[in-house]
Amino acid sequence: FVFGAATSSYQIEGSWNVSAAVVNDFDWWTHSCPEWIADDSNGDIACDSYRMYKEDVNLVKEIGFKFYRFSISWSRILPTGLTNDVSKDGVTYYNNLIRQLHINGIETMVNTYHFDHPMK
Ligand SMILES: *[C@@H]1O[C@H](CO)[C@@H](O)[C@H](O)[C@H]1NC(C)=O
Repeated sequence: FVFGAATSSYQIEGSWNVSAAVVNDFDWWTHSCPEWIADDSNGDIACDSYRMYKEDVNLVKEIGFKFYRFSISWSRILPTGLTNDVSKDGVTYYNNLIRQLHINGIETMVNTYHFDHPMK
């Protein structure tokens, strides 16, 4: 048994439109049909973890978790949806996140697909 925390990219990252990130299916749904969400909210900013990941890792550490599971946004690292175009900025973000977690003694587990893929 390992005690930790888990997130998904769309739920926490925000920054849907930075760098090479492209519109994913959740972006499309929430922007095209905001009435489908009771309070018209979306993940455009979410927890702003794309910018605030160091603070978020500190929170995970302060709680005392030794384990963190996150997901990789397909639309952030593979803007075309295929491996012919890998976003360096996207890969750098996840490398930095993993490094920050390991520096703080937190074991990582990666979900490579949490239902957010490029819309095109
Ligand atoms: C990106 O999205 C945010 C939130 O929806 C918005 O405030 C900002 O203007 C957008 N930036 C660009 C460059 O389109």
